[in-house]
Amino acid sequence: MITREDVLGWLQEVRHPGKQDRDIVELGMVGDVEVSEAKVSVLLSFPARRDPLSEYLIGSTRAALVRHLPTGVEGEVKTEVREAAAPKKTNELSLDQLKGVRHIIGVASGKGGVGKSTVAVGLALGLAKLGCKVGLADADVYGPSVPTMTGTEDTAPGVVQEDGMDLFVPLEKYGVKWMSVGYFASRGQALIWRGPMACSALKQMILQVKWGELDYLIIDMPPGTGDIHISLVQEIPMEGAIIVTTPQNVALADVEKGVNMFRNDNIKRRIFGIVENMAWFTPAEHPDEKYFIFGQGGGERMAREFGLELLAQIPLVQSIREGGDSGDPTALTELAEKLITLTN
Ligand SMILES: Nc1ncnc2c1ncn2[C@@H]1O[C@H](COP(=O)(O)OP(=O)(O)O)[C@@H](O)[C@H]1O
Ligand SMILES: [Mg+2]
Repeated sequence: MITREDVLGWLQEVRHPGKQDRDIVELGMVGDVEVSEAKVSVLLSFPARRDPLSEYLIGSTRAALVRHLPTGVEGEVKTEVREAAAPKKTNELSLDQLKGVRHIIGVASGKGGVGKSTVAVGLALGLAKLGCKVGLADADVYGPSVPTMTGTEDTAPGVVQEDGMDLFVPLEKYGVKWMSVGYFASRGQALIWRGPMACSALKQMILQVKWGELDYLIIDMPPGTGDIHISLVQEIPMEGAIIVTTPQNVALADVEKGVNMFRNDNIKRRIFGIVENMAWFTPAEHPDEKYFIFGQGGGERMAREFGLELLAQIPLVQSIREGGDSGDPTALTELAEKLITLTN
């Protein structure tokens, strides 16, 4: 039989990155723990409605329960807010922090692994090189890769209070402001989200951030085209999107889903065009050679099919992968130039 003490022991693995990594038991955030044969239920108690890390903590608590509970026993996480007299409005996520942002651009793909983050990060760096003020929000809450790609994984964003609201301060490196849910995840600990939670976590990464004045905010969207994406596009005032694909024929269906997501009647956002990533392979030792390992002209055909511009073709080269792995990502300056033209 599982005891309350067992559960409290497991919950000490859940640390609050905003509070010197102290655990939630020590911080007095664990309220009732109910244990029965079929279920363990934990009540998390938040001092204020908008602990900026609330979604992360709920997800981590659920993950801790899942790790320890024997099969057949359900883990449940309930929440309460202790806040006395809640000041109204100020705790709610609003679009206030986006007021100083001129252009919000989504980078999307029908599926993962096509280089969406590589393009989003490269575009942000390109824009910064061209003198723009740039921020990037990594909204891929399932596979946040921006901390590793930019070599910022050992840093945690600060939190400031403004008008009774906690705001994250984005990290700055390479002239870009970066924010990612990855900064709050313990190393090697998978984030377990349920739909609505993933959704609010990623909105926090965009709306609860002190972006300040920006020319461009790039949003690295989660791969896919489900409900979360639609809600994200509806609620964030994105000016438009760039769709990343690889040249394979099979990618056509994914691009179509991506295109439909933005052209949907309820959404109607602009699509700036398609970026064909891994368009050809160029070996490091033969920089002038092109091998069309995924077929040739796929990106062009897709662009024509959907009446979109092919904004860029990016080769598969070792330096891009190595740069991403080592935190020294490649800037995509030509793509950035195109985007500036399209948005001015
Ligand atoms: N043009 C490219 N050349 C070499 N490697 C690439 C290229 N584009 C992406 N990669 C590598 O492929 C992997 C997946 O890319 P990533 O940008 O993380 O994809 P996504 O965000 O779509 O899941 C990464 O290891 C990345 O470094
Ligand atoms: Mg990615």
